[in-house]
Formats: sequence, C-alpha cells, structure tokens
Amino acid sequence: MVQRCRILNLSVTAVIVLSIYNVLLTVKLMYNKDDCPHVKIQHVVSQSSAPPKPPCNSQVNDISTDTVFSKLDLKLGRWDNKLIIKYFDNFLVGDRYSQLNEDFTVCLATQSSIEKLSSLVEVSSTWHGAISTAVYAAGDDELNLILLYLIYLRQCFVNIKNRVSFHLAVPKGRMPKSIQVDLASLAQMDCNRPDVTLQQLLKRRSAITAKWRIKNPYPQNHLRNLARKNCHSGHVFLTDVDIVPSDLLAEKLDGFLKKASCTKLCAYVIPTYELDNRIRFPPNKTELVRLASKGLARPFHHKVFIYNQFATNFSKWQTGANEESQEVHISHPVTNFEFLYEPFYVAPDTAPPHDERFIGYGYTRNTQVYEMYVAGYEFLVLSPIFTVHWGLQVKRSRPPWREHQNNQNRKLFDTFKREVFAKYKKDPLHMVANSHR
Ligand SMILES: *[C@@H]1O[C@H](CO)[C@@H](O)[C@H](O)[C@H]1NC(C)=O
Ligand SMILES: *[C@@H]1O[C@H](CO)[C@@H](O)[C@H](O)[C@H]1NC(C)=O
Repeated sequence: MVQRCRILNLSVTAVIVLSIYNVLLTVKLMYNKDDCPHVKIQHVVSQSSAPPKPPCNSQVNDISTDTVFSKLDLKLGRWDNKLIIKYFDNFLVGDRYSQLNEDFTVCLATQSSIEKLSSLVEVSSTWHGAISTAVYAAGDDELNLILLYLIYLRQCFVNIKNRVSFHLAVPKGRMPKSIQVDLASLAQMDCNRPDVTLQQLLKRRSAITAKWRIKNPYPQNHLRNLARKNCHSGHVFLTDVDIVPSDLLAEKLDGFLKKASCTKLCAYVIPTYELDNRIRFPPNKTELVRLASKGLARPFHHKVFIYNQFATNFSKWQTGANEESQEVHISHPVTNFEFLYEPFYVAPDTAPPHDERFIGYGYTRNTQVYEMYVAGYEFLVLSPIFTVHWGLQVKRSRPPWREHQNNQNRKLFDTFKREVFAKYKKDPLHMVANSHR
C-alpha cells in the first residue's frame, strides 16, 4: 500500500514537473526571440563546417507571402524622373521602425544589391536606431530570392525584424512580374550562417539574370536617394551596406547632436577604417588606433584610392587618442577639401540629392559631396566614433565593364560641374575654370 502510494506520488510529481517545464518552454519560445546568436559575418566563412542547424524560429508554416508582402504590388510603385527605375517604398517595415525614427536623432540609410545583403546582420546588431534599406532586384528570379532571404533574415535576426525597413528598386529593362517565394526552402536555411546561406541562394539565380546584372550598371544613386527619403529622423547617416558602425553609434550621435550648435550647413564626418579580417571588431578608438599602428587597420581605401578619405586627415584624428574624452566631439574641421573626397557623414536630409545621371561606377558619391562643398557645407570630423569595413583592400585591376562605366560617368561629370556652377555661382575648387584651359 505504502509502496503504491509512493509510486503514485512520484508519477503525480513527474506530471506536474513536466507540465511546468512545458509551460516554461512555451513562454521561452514566445518571449525569447533573441536566441539566435548575432553572427559576425566575416568569421563565419572560415569557421569549421558545423552541421547545419534548423532556423531558430522554424515555425514557417503560418507564413504566406500574401500577408508578408501585402504591401508589394508589382503593378503599382512609382517611377524615377527618367522612367527607367520603379520604386516600392516600405514594402517590408521593421516592427519598431517608426518608433525608432522618433526615438533617435539619426536614421541609417543604406542600399544593397542581393550580393551584399548578409552585411545587414552585423550592421543591425550594432546600430540600434532605424535602418532604411533600399534593395535592387532585376527580374523575377532575383526578386524572389531576395524576398526569401529577407523572410529568413527577419526570422533569424530580431534586430533586422525590428529595425530595418526595406524599399525596392527595379529596372525597367528587367521588371519583375510575379511574387513566388519558395518558402519550403526556409527549413534548410541556417540562422548561424547568413553569408553561406546567401551564397547558396545566389547559385539559384538564372545565368541570364546574372549576365544582365553585369551588363547593366547598378543604379547606386537612385538607391541612395530612395533610402535617404524613407528616413524620418532629423538626420541621416548614409553608408554603404558593408560599413559597420562602432559600438552604440546611434546613442552617441544622439547625445552629440542634441547639444551641437551648428549655425550654418554642417556635415559631421565619421571616419571609416578598413580592418584585417582576422581581428576582433575594436570596442573603442584607443584599440582602433593601436591596431592601426600594427598595420591591422588603416583608413578605408588607403591603398585602392587614397583621395576617397584623405581629406578626413586620419593622422590628426589619431593623435592623442589615449587622453581623449569618450564623449563624442568635433576633432577638427576638414581644411583640405579636394575633389573625389567621399566621406560618410551625418547631416539633415536637406543636403543635395545624389545625382541620378550617374549610374554604375564612378562619380556617384563624390559628386554629391562635391555639390555639398560648393553649396557651402562645412565638414567636421567627429571623434572617438568610427565605422569599419572588413578586409584590407588591395588594388586589383578593374574589370573592363567597370572602367567603361567610369569613363561614361566622367563625360557626364563635365555637364554636372557646369550645372553646379550655374546653380551656386561658386567654383571653389576651380573645376570649371580649369576645364577651359
Ligand atoms: C578600449 O578597449 C580596450 C580593449 O578591449 C580596453 O582594454 C580599454 O579599457 C578600452 N578603453 C576605454 C577607454 O574604454
Ligand atoms: C592634417 O593635419 C596636419 C596638422 O595636424 C596638417 O599639417 C596637414 O596638412 C593635414 N593634412 C590634411 C590632408 O588635411
């Protein structure tokens, strides 16, 4: 009798314990959505080939593309001024996107083709404000792979789900017609390996689309304007998608801008370094400067195209890093502005737009910065904050298509600089005067 009672007691206890465990698991599933590790992309590639894990949040059954992409009607959208690119604003909105635009003074605006979309994982884990992202898709296959990848990103990375809003740009010459996302393949997409997953998806793109993309220039400036104009904070920080902000950059800029007393046209430059792939992301400027002294970090594009960031004056920025205040402050103004300078900067979005006649490579970002300079903007370099591009860049010979695009744009620049002169009646770098010689 006693024996039976004990067994009964034991089984009742077991049932209770199991039930509580079950409830706890459910609660964990409901609330602990941030279970997925935030993978640092560069290092995933070199990691050992661990067996693929299922997505952290593998409840894919209740997704239907009709509801996820209810805002994306390919028959609507709006045209650019030349009717060559069609836009779809906010077709996928971050759950906290509008709120973050109110909470922070600066919104991050960025743009990407399918090839670099995995960079958003790291960017969205360090930038805590709103992120306005313009993506480019040529053809049905590319669009549907992008949409699949965005669902995957939102499922695996809660920061992307919360912070990022996506806008789409499609070319007239290869306009996607239908949305047919292969949701079944989500089950095989590993949350721990966003870049490998993307590489696998890219293999599914048709050869025709891949070829079309190489032959037709990427409309960077259209995408930049699309991303910029969908930011709703007072200021915009426009970057390329593979530029990673330093720790708490949004919060730190907030503190600075609320006190900043800019009486004229100010653009705040945030220095960009390129970093050896083998090292850890530097947690602060002191560490970055130490890495630079060892040759593991250096100004972005220092070897590829020095004019790109030269006027930022990195040697000046680096001196006295040890004694410096940790509060964001102006290190120095840019005093040697030169044509081809293209820093990443923070400014209100009343800055001139990116001129959309420049398509493809060359004269895209620097022409906009040049117009700002002619318009009278002052460029002020901030410290101790920074951004990083992974990988020390070395000069490689450019593919012929890139050289061709650059030459095309150089011709267009001749007209552009005359227009800028006519508009502002100023020629501080003697660009127009010199061309008469
Ligand atoms: C900067 O980072 C280094 C390396 O992690 C650390 O030792 C140092 O204390 C940090 N300095 C400041 C001022 O936070
Ligand atoms: C950088 O700053 C130093 C002074 O700290 C100055 O001598 C030098 O001309 C500056 N270089 C550029 C490119 O602005």
